[in-house]
Amino acid sequence: PEQWKLKKTVVLVGMMGAGKTAVGKALAVALHVPFLDSDAEIERAANMSIAEIFERDGEAFFRDRETQVIDRLLADECGVLSTGGGAFLAQRNRELISRKGVSVWLKVDLPILWSRVKHKDTRPLLRTANPYSTLRDLFDARVPVYEQADLSVEARADYTIETMAGKVLEA
Ligand code: S3P
Repeated sequence: PEQWKLKKTVVLVGMMGAGKTAVGKALAVALHVPFLDSDAEIERAANMSIAEIFERDGEAFFRDRETQVIDRLLADECGVLSTGGGAFLAQRNRELISRKGVSVWLKVDLPILWSRVKHKDTRPLLRTANPYSTLRDLFDARVPVYEQADLSVEARADYTIETMAGKVLEA
């Protein structure tokens, strides 16, 4: 199909491992619209990985950057924006997102999230003595906030990336 003319940017929110980046890319391809990724943009601008930014400058610095980047990316042409798992937690970010975008929570249960993140070393927040309990605590604290998203799409273990992108489109 021809390019969609979006009135708002589709902003994917949800936990680490929910598939925000993978689903966002597939959705942007399907809609023929730009794909934007706040983590990737922060890394590109700083010329450092997220882990390095956390290590060198701390989480508060990262969160500051995250807000700036989300603000800037939402000012561009409408597309699909994948955010980092903590982005929707800050009220300022939720305000920016609700002004210029439509938020979609990729709702994925804890066992699936864990199966996806446990072998990766890219997430500084999970570099703890017990990463599973850290993930579970983040999950419990964040779900009530993700519930405030405009829309939600529930994943199932047998859904592919394309299936999830299709569900977002339907929503
Ligand atoms: C974070 C999630 C990460 C990244 C940073 C913090 C979080 O993004 O922004 O490590 O607070 O949940 P992903 O959700 O893409 O892993």
